[in-house]
Amino acid sequence: MTKKTMLAATLTHYRQNDLKLTQTSIPTIGQHDVLVKVRAASINPIDAKTMAGKMRFILSYKLPLIMGSDFAGEIVAVGSRVNKFKVGDAVYGRPRKSRIGTFADYFAINADEIALKPKNLSYTEAAAIPLVGLTSYQVLHDVMAIQPGQKVLIQAGAGGIGTFAIQLAKQLGAFVTTTTSAAHQQLVRDLGADQVIDYHQINFADVLNHYDAVFDTLGGQNLVQAFDIIKPGGHVVSISGMPTAKFAKMAGLPYWKQLVLSLASRQLMRRARQTKSHYEFLLMKPSGVELAKLTEMIEQKRLQPIIDRVFPFEAISEALAYSQQGHATGKIIVQMPI
Ligand SMILES: NC(=O)c1ccc[n+]([C@@H]2O[C@H](COP(=O)([O-])OP(=O)(O)OC[C@H]3O[C@@H](n4cnc5c(N)ncnc54)[C@H](OP(=O)(O)O)[C@@H]3O)[C@@H](O)[C@H]2O)c1
Repeated sequence: MTKKTMLAATLTHYRQNDLKLTQTSIPTIGQHDVLVKVRAASINPIDAKTMAGKMRFILSYKLPLIMGSDFAGEIVAVGSRVNKFKVGDAVYGRPRKSRIGTFADYFAINADEIALKPKNLSYTEAAAIPLVGLTSYQVLHDVMAIQPGQKVLIQAGAGGIGTFAIQLAKQLGAFVTTTTSAAHQQLVRDLGADQVIDYHQINFADVLNHYDAVFDTLGGQNLVQAFDIIKPGGHVVSISGMPTAKFAKMAGLPYWKQLVLSLASRQLMRRARQTKSHYEFLLMKPSGVELAKLTEMIEQKRLQPIIDRVFPFEAISEALAYSQQGHATGKIIVQMPI
């Protein structure tokens, strides 16, 4: 490869509401890495949260930072110890938190964090999957261990997570209830939701009870109320609410942060004890192995990406602003120049 520099979308300071498009060096790869020509990347709410400095308590970054947490693209170089992938492979993935940076022409990633792109998806479609797909898989399969016939509430069914989680929960055999506004009711039903609650009209806690699991994507009062509908032994898992001391310990945060989160999550832990249920905060982890399972299910047409809008890379600020409105229907994608 003769090119030495690439275009990247960079955060230069926190509370910056825009990313700067800059020319920067193409990353070098380690022995276990691959270098990918990024073809498409997805916008995730964590982008705006990171830019606003809201993730700093649990994720600290050195700035300037190339943003972007998942991608689909083509391998252009492989490290000397990589044997599962080769130059020319079409792949997708979600990097570990310390090595984000997919909003760029090229991206270096550990080969354990990628999988072959589903053959029946374009790069643009495939970029919609890694972050929301792995999060949904880890919540519904790894933590909740959803069994056929169990009742699960998935909050915000029309969002990036919701549109994927509904499909996956159905694949696991669950009875799926979801919340959305009236405009998205048909979409979530088409994805497999058995029961749909218009959250503008009805409070889910007034009409649901005895649920095996609640997948909380909203946090706040919605998370507190999840314990009103959970049955003994059930799982409330949040990806948006208050992290717990257990999470802080597993994430290797210092003792004082474990203490802070222990205090901050005590209302939720108390509700879990009172209802004899389990509460966990989950921060998804990259996994090429789990992503390969999703590839298989997508190729079998058991799962599909739902895409709201596609923006060219130069319009990434517009894509971020659109995401921040909080009403995306499925995923928002940025396409890189070829
Ligand atoms: N911990 C982790 O590892 C992890 C991983 C991924 C995501 N997350 C977090 O999970 C959250 C959801 O992510 P996402 O990608 O799904 O976000 P998103 O795509 O931006 O979600 C937008 C959707 O939320 C719906 N919504 C907004 N308020 C709602 C409410 N009160 N009740 C029901 N639906 C509501 C909107 O539907 P309407 O237009 O119908 O209002 C819209 O479809 C974010 O906070 C994100 O940071 C965490």
